[in-house]
Amino acid sequence: MSEAQQHQRETMLGQKGCVLWFSGLSGAGKSTIADALEERLLKRRVLATVLDGDCVRTGLCNDLGFSVEDRTENLRRLGEMSALMADAGVVVITAFISPLRDSRIAAKAMVGDYRFREVYISTPLTICEGRDVKGLYKRARAGTIPNFTGIDSPFEPPLHPDIELNTAELSLEDSVSILEAHIEAQGFIQSTDYGI
Ligand code: ADX
Repeated sequence: MSEAQQHQRETMLGQKGCVLWFSGLSGAGKSTIADALEERLLKRRVLATVLDGDCVRTGLCNDLGFSVEDRTENLRRLGEMSALMADAGVVVITAFISPLRDSRIAAKAMVGDYRFREVYISTPLTICEGRDVKGLYKRARAGTIPNFTGIDSPFEPPLHPDIELNTAELSLEDSVSILEAHIEAQGFIQSTDYGI
């Protein structure tokens, strides 16, 4: 794909492809924020899409489990896919636990620094476990789900995320607004403020 074509696509769409790469524990609020941001952006006619761990693992990555090797391969594929979608001009929002620092660094390299933003959904384990939306923490504590992130599999918090959102302290509305304002300020999407 040539630069000229990419520019043509950006002009046509009135936006630049980028990747908001979320990471955070199960139950931290990644999918909820990603879906709400997608809805907000689509409403203002920004082409945006969510890649969600639970969905991708039923298709593209249905051969993978939760060992470190499999998670690394999961995130490698999703990094490549995100890069292709960003090339196509889409605002990509990824909602994977993405627990390992090296995988996130690799994804950033695939996508390109200039259009990759690391978003840490930093809701603490105690809160995520208290919510236990899918009942998975209970099963992990009981030992029926091995390699569960935060219980017997590591989560390496981002050291320098571009944005950190703790859903124990922020409303959904505020989290979405912070992300929307960020991609607008960075020039990935056009401002809706026409100075009127
Ligand atoms: S990642 O570690 O490779 O980034 P991913 O986001 O794709 O994980 O998948 C996480 C989802 O898989 C969780 O939201 C949860 O519903 C489910 N899941 C099943 N087993 C595990 C496990 N052992 N650890 C974490 N999540 C698990």
